[in-house]
Formats: sequence, structure tokens, C-alpha cells
Amino acid sequence: MAPNDDIFDSANEAKANFDDIYNLPDPRRYYRTLGALDYRIPTEARPIFRRVMKAMGKDNLSVLDIGCSYGVNAALIQYDLEFSDLVARYRRQEMREESVAEAIFDDAAFFADRRKAVEATFTGMDVAAEAAGYARAVGLIDDAIVENLEAAPMTDDARAAVADVDLIITTGAVGYVTEKTFNRLIDAVEGPPPWIAAFSLRQFPFDAIAEELTGFGLETEKLDDRCFPQRRFRDEEEAAGALAAVEALGLDPAGLEADGEYFAEFYLAKPRSAPQLADLRL
Ligand SMILES: C[S@@+](CC[C@H](N)C(=O)[O-])C[C@H]1O[C@@H](n2cnc3c(N)ncnc32)[C@H](O)[C@@H]1O
Repeated sequence: MAPNDDIFDSANEAKANFDDIYNLPDPRRYYRTLGALDYRIPTEARPIFRRVMKAMGKDNLSVLDIGCSYGVNAALIQYDLEFSDLVARYRRQEMREESVAEAIFDDAAFFADRRKAVEATFTGMDVAAEAAGYARAVGLIDDAIVENLEAAPMTDDARAAVADVDLIITTGAVGYVTEKTFNRLIDAVEGPPPWIAAFSLRQFPFDAIAEELTGFGLETEKLDDRCFPQRRFRDEEEAAGALAAVEALGLDPAGLEADGEYFAEFYLAKPRSAPQLADLRL
């Protein structure tokens, strides 16, 4: 096993396991469970993603979201919502009482009635078929890819679905996905290599992914001096694990993880000829 795999494995070990909410037929429990821990990295990421999309200077970008889950980033970016708005929606008694079919029907109407703040084509990619299927059913994403690219190469259908992707985004998924997934996805893009805008927890080093991206002519920059709160630790055990994980990387948790939350950093990879990260004024 490569050293990076060891780091990812030990950092993942102490992290609470939410597999039971990642692949349900609708997102009600996902939002309520993570909302209780103030999960908010998609909200933090939204203005950064929008800024990057604008900087790319192309209408109707084709955006691929790795670990799209229930279409969270697509919902926030397109419809001017925060994660907490959706948590509040799914906490309402009426929505708790709905059947799955009613909840999906209600959500489809809710998004269809909202004004779109951003026009883009979204493709969601996740191992969770139910979650990605929901995102497509309610119209948050235009296409869903359900594959585990950590374990196997892409199918021809999936390759075709990403052929025209301009931008790859991700929140909360690095750690589950590694350079293998990035490699397989970018390799299937037929036009110029896409830009990559990725939020990654401090405990998951981005180096191996950045290294992989250089093979596609993409240069990675980290946004300096900014850390983005992801969510509160679920319990003492998770807190101790996260502190140990960042300290093992030589990072100082003071003022960050030491105060009870996970923090992510932002990485942008793009062709060398594109504007520098500093010029994007994120
Ligand atoms: C913490 S959730 C983040 C979801 C969403 N991006 C957000 O921020 O709300 C992690 C997601 O990664 C997905 N995931 C886990 N392993 C994966 C893999 N090998 N490939 C793609 N997605 C994966 C999970 O199914 C889950 O939807």
C-alpha cells in the first residue's frame, strides 16, 4: 500500500461512518443528520465555486460533481440555497410524514418553482445509486454516474457522460476518492482538460491528486490562509482522531480542529495558461 493510502486509512478510521444515510431514496435523513452537526462545507464552497465558474468565462458550463450525493452542490449553486435552508425544509413535520414518493414529488416541484441563479449543466457522480438517482429524479442534475472508480475503470456509458466536462467540483468526498478517481474521470474528457475545484479536509493530503493532475497539464494551487469549516465532530472519539490525524501531518490544530470542527482547504487545478488563483479574488 502506498504511504498516502495509509494516511487516508488512518484518518478515515476515526471519522464517523454515515454510510446509512448516504444511499437512501430521498435526502431527508441526510440533511437532518448532518444538519445536527452543522455540516456546511457545501455552503462555504458555493461562493468559491461560483467565482471559479465565472472566471472560466464560458456560458452553460458542464460541471461534474464527485460524490454528488443527493445533488447537494447542484442545489446550492443553482438555486441560491444554503445547506441549512434544506435542513430546515426536511425538519418540517409535514416533510417527515411524507412517503418517499411524496417527498420526491414535493422536492421536484420545490426546485422547479425556484428561480435559477446560475445556468449550468450538472453531472453527478457517486457510488450511491439511490442518492444520485434522487438528484436526477428531482431535476438537480442532468445526468448521474454511479460507479466506484476507486475499484474499477469507467464504463463506456460513464465515459460518454463526462466527455464534455469543463469543471470538476467536490466537497466532502476526497478521502473516499483518491487520485484514481480523478485520473479515470479526466482521462475520459475529450476536450481540453477540465478545471478542478476541490475542497478537501486538512487531514487528507492533496499531494497525490495534484501530482496526478500534472499528467493532464493541470497545475494545482491551494488557497492560502483560508480554512473552511466542514462540520462539528460527532463525539470525543472523532475529535481525538481528527486532532491526531492533523498532528501526524505536522499541522497545528489550534484555532481549528482543536475547537471542535473539521476544516477543509480549497484547491484549484487548471491549465498553466489560465489566470492564477490570486487573480480570481476568492
Ligand atoms: C460526506 S458525503 C458528501 C456529499 C456532498 N458532496 C456534500 O458535500 O454534501 C460523501 C459522499 O461521497 C460518496 N462516495 C463515497 N465513496 C465514493 C466513491 N468511491 N466514488 C464516488 N463517491 C463516493 C458517498 O456516497 C457520499 O455521497
